[in-house]
Amino acid sequence: MTGPRPVLVVGASGYVGSRVVQGLAADGRAVLAAARRPVPDADGVLPVRYDTVTDLPDAVRAACGRAGAPLPGAVVASIGGWHKGAALLDDDPERWTATLASHLTAHLDAARALVPLLRPGDPYVVLNGSASREAMAGSGVISVTGAGLAMLVQVLRLEAEQRPSAAVRFHELVIDHAVAGDDRNEDPAQTRTPAQVVHALGEVLDQPGAPAVVHV
Ligand SMILES: NC(=O)c1ccc[n+]([C@@H]2O[C@H](COP(=O)([O-])OP(=O)(O)OC[C@H]3O[C@@H](n4cnc5c(N)ncnc54)[C@H](OP(=O)(O)O)[C@@H]3O)[C@@H](O)[C@H]2O)c1
Repeated sequence: MTGPRPVLVVGASGYVGSRVVQGLAADGRAVLAAARRPVPDADGVLPVRYDTVTDLPDAVRAACGRAGAPLPGAVVASIGGWHKGAALLDDDPERWTATLASHLTAHLDAARALVPLLRPGDPYVVLNGSASREAMAGSGVISVTGAGLAMLVQVLRLEAEQRPSAAVRFHELVIDHAVAGDDRNEDPAQTRTPAQVVHALGEVLDQPGAPAVVHV
């Protein structure tokens, strides 16, 4: 297996994930783009289709094996997304249950599946949004799962530090504003460009001493 160890982006079919994949590849990084839905072909990008997170490690190994590429040396988890709707007390209870699964539990499942592919010191970066820090009416479940995700990353980082022989470094990259061009955000006061997100992400990936929590 030759070449640099690629960055594995999970949620590569999403608005942010797809732009992160493009941006990292444009910076010359080898990228594995993992998603359950198809992702567009792009130079320097190896797609990884999977159905459930338990299949994901084997799908990564198979994609790397077919391409003669090494296993990933970093993970970026861009799982989740935005929703605005009814107030929490009025919302469909099934939305609460489904969003806990997709925005919080899916991150733990992904970390459990993917950390064993990494080596000590490798970065595992979880993307999060401003609703994790600010209570947002109509997006209550996004705020609650985002706040929970922030704590999940802290706990994973702490527990990793307690077993240094196998420790990857966990980071949370909080995108504090709507990502430019995403029409699901209505009249955002400020935006962040995909290039700004990719630049901040690149610094976290490349700097072993990067802070646990980075805002962009
Ligand atoms: N969009 C913005 O303006 C914005 C702003 C600030 C922060 N962010 C942050 O960026 C991250 C991604 O948001 P986004 O806007 O790109 O969301 P998105 O467009 O909805 O994409 C999220 C991706 O997550 C994957 N996903 C959903 N449920 C999953 C599950 N149960 N297991 C595994 N993967 C699952 C989906 O991929 P598949 O179904 O194909 O696997 C989907 O493509 C979030 O952390 C969000 O808070 C976004």
